Amino acid sequence: MGISREILLWGSRNKWLADQLTGRSFTRRAVQRFMPGEELSAAIDATESLRQKDISTILTLLGENVSETSKADALVEYYLKVLDRIREMGFDADISLKPTQLGIDLDFERTCDRYETLVTRAAELGRMVAIDIEDSSYVDRTIELYRRMRAGHSNVALCLQAYLYRTASDLVTLLPLAPIIRLVKGAYNERPEIAYRRKKDVDANFLRLTDTLLQEVSRDGGVRAFFGTHDPRMVNEIIARAEALGLPRDAYEFQMLYGIQRELQTRLAAEGYRMRVLISYGESWFPWYMRRLAERPANILFLLRNLFSG
Ligand code: FDA
Repeated sequence: MGISREILLWGSRNKWLADQLTGRSFTRRAVQRFMPGEELSAAIDATESLRQKDISTILTLLGENVSETSKADALVEYYLKVLDRIREMGFDADISLKPTQLGIDLDFERTCDRYETLVTRAAELGRMVAIDIEDSSYVDRTIELYRRMRAGHSNVALCLQAYLYRTASDLVTLLPLAPIIRLVKGAYNERPEIAYRRKKDVDANFLRLTDTLLQEVSRDGGVRAFFGTHDPRMVNEIIARAEALGLPRDAYEFQMLYGIQRELQTRLAAEGYRMRVLISYGESWFPWYMRRLAERPANILFLLRNLFSG
């Protein structure tokens, strides 16, 4: 792992830095590259423009590590309204939530209840709820949360991270549930005792997990695979491996973040692949934005250009 990635991930957890940078206009301008705006209306407008390119979306209000029960409860009410708005607009749009946003640091059972409310309502509307995965200290609890949700519902997806050594066995133990898995490389700063740190190794594990998922999809036992990556090499490998198994283009889904690899997103959708873009929006963008910078430190140049452009 490069030193700049470590610094950026450290910065993502630094409150002083967050206070310094969040109010600055140059940072706000740079953030717009990855976020259509702070309001739901901006995410709705972005969904509308993506729909015209046959790209579906996932909406997520930025925020993590909620420290008050009332805030986690309020968020459930908020997302119920988002689901209603999605229905009104007739969008193919889902929602994605971080367990710490729904209070997992405060009370596991109540967090399950909050997800249950949202997953139940989403099912009534034919929508899906994705459970994001955060740093490694949350993985056991997040998997348990997924098991609970999956026991009663089929419209819930779980994100798994290819950089963790444990993910291969987590995936195998989840397979009997016929899970819906969003496979990503992983965005946090993890220790070498538990995670691959070199891109080459993360990529190799990503592809091993891809093989497992695609084989399960081809067995048609209900497993569904979403691939959350902007890496053109991974995309090509996924397509080649799916073709080798005889899977049609709509048997699995690519997911990318808003603003990243836009051309690739458009091309995949035009070629008949299922393409879904995760739109993050809201005021609490700082840690999330720092993780985006850490994924590609070249993006810092973009931030600096905004600093000097007024
Ligand atoms: P990688 O970082 O290896 O980069 C490969 C190439 O992709 C780069 O050379 C560049 O071309 C392009 N690229 C990647 N990131 C870019 C960026 N920020 N700007 C511009 N180009 C970029 N993580 C997590 O830990 N928990 C989660 O719940 C989620 N959820 C999630 C949902 C979705 C839909 C996506 C797409 C991603 C996540 N992630 C996540 C983030 C994920 O773990 C990972 O950090 C990023 O997707 C970056 O990894 P890549 O596979 O894209 O490639």
